[in-house]
Amino acid sequence: MNQTQIINNKSYYLEEWKRGYNSQPNEYEYEIDNIEGTIPPELQGTLFRNGPGLLDIAGTPIHHPFDGDGMISAFYFQNGKAYFRNRFVETEAYLQEKAAGKILYRGVFGTQKPGGLFNNIFDLKLKNIANTNVIYWGNKLLALWEAAEPHLLNPQTLETIGIDYLDGVLKPGESCAAHPWIDPNSVLDAGQPCLVNFAIAPGLSSKITVFEFAPDGKLLRRHSHVIPGFSFIHDFAITPHYCIFFQNPVNFNPLPFLFGLKGAGECVEFQPTKPTRVVLIPRDPHNKQVKTFMVDSGFVFHHANAFETQDRVCIDSIAYASLPEVAPNSDYKEVNFDNLDPGRLWRFTLNLQDGTVERQLLENTCCEFPAVNPDKVGRDYRYLFIGAAHQDSGKNAPLQAIMKLDMETGQRQLHSVAPHGYVSEPIFVPKPDANAEDEGWILTLVYNGKHHRSSLAILDGQNIDGEPVALLHLKHHIPYGLHGSWTNEVF
Ligand SMILES: [Fe+2]
Repeated sequence: MNQTQIINNKSYYLEEWKRGYNSQPNEYEYEIDNIEGTIPPELQGTLFRNGPGLLDIAGTPIHHPFDGDGMISAFYFQNGKAYFRNRFVETEAYLQEKAAGKILYRGVFGTQKPGGLFNNIFDLKLKNIANTNVIYWGNKLLALWEAAEPHLLNPQTLETIGIDYLDGVLKPGESCAAHPWIDPNSVLDAGQPCLVNFAIAPGLSSKITVFEFAPDGKLLRRHSHVIPGFSFIHDFAITPHYCIFFQNPVNFNPLPFLFGLKGAGECVEFQPTKPTRVVLIPRDPHNKQVKTFMVDSGFVFHHANAFETQDRVCIDSIAYASLPEVAPNSDYKEVNFDNLDPGRLWRFTLNLQDGTVERQLLENTCCEFPAVNPDKVGRDYRYLFIGAAHQDSGKNAPLQAIMKLDMETGQRQLHSVAPHGYVSEPIFVPKPDANAEDEGWILTLVYNGKHHRSSLAILDGQNIDGEPVALLHLKHHIPYGLHGSWTNEVF
């Protein structure tokens, strides 16, 4: 996109952007035959993605995309061909609302049942919407939503099998976060990979439980720690020896939720004048030396990576100066991006000796949804790939580009799909026998607001500002999604 296409200082058309939040009620399966470029035959495996598929229930709009029923999209790659399938996670609530043809549950982010206050007051039932992430681990495909249990899916057909308690690790009603990390080389397990995740039980004080699972799905370690104060912790970071949690400065006032006025998630109030507490929990359960650091970070949803250097731990995170709020009776699509704080990439360096924290702005461009080479998770790394605004204005804007940041040189490259395209979270897939850290493919779903359809872009990690390796055009659109993952398994 050249400068002449920037109209009124915008690289996007708001009306086109809004259409990416149209529901996709249909379930498809087909071989993708509309392809620009060539799918690399060495790209063998499956990309799973999750996100809200329904932004309305039988025509009644939901209040926030985070309340949308989870829909899984899968791209199966084999021998230079790609097959697509999408299917809703058939949660109990999804099936009930589908049968009833109306909203039966209040959403955490403000969706209310019809009938006004008296139909919502004191109704505290949670709708497990399974819409945030999807992972394949321990021979299980799991759809994750942080406030409730995972759902088990058939990786080939995407059929929902049911709620999964991780072989008894979770009890009914216990939650499991939607942001696991895979440690590629766990020092606690003789170099075997392991999956690390957590659960939060918030309250006047909050209990953080850390879970670690072996490649066969067996529980390796579980330990819980109570920290003072309410917590809203969506993501965390790992290093070989630590889990790192940012306890954002928030208050929780449950009264508007109890009285049917707001969703529970809308009752979280950001406290911009208070510091974030960074909680460092050793991964070895025998080490009880939990450390807490204080820093002004703003609000953090996602961490890009973390690593240890001698007596320091560095965490790279996307931080906002404030937490965006969607007021009751407002429309999340009627947004003025210029009025929202941008997400910016910061490095927080914890000094384990003196307990201080330094912070450094790494990137001023509005960005979100980071990804690194999976071999570098928890390790010092050079390359970060992240969704970014088209313009380097420092203002909030839709994500229309994939940015590659070189931490060593400070160089950055941008693959922009503006003005009609909107990117999703990038996923880095290393090439077989790769030597260099950036030797791999970047997979990202791109919604085109002009044509109202989505395409999967395959970019070359070493040349992301060049032409895509391939563009796989779907026959329809996928609403803006949240997270996903890659597995080398072909189903
Ligand atoms: Fe997330």
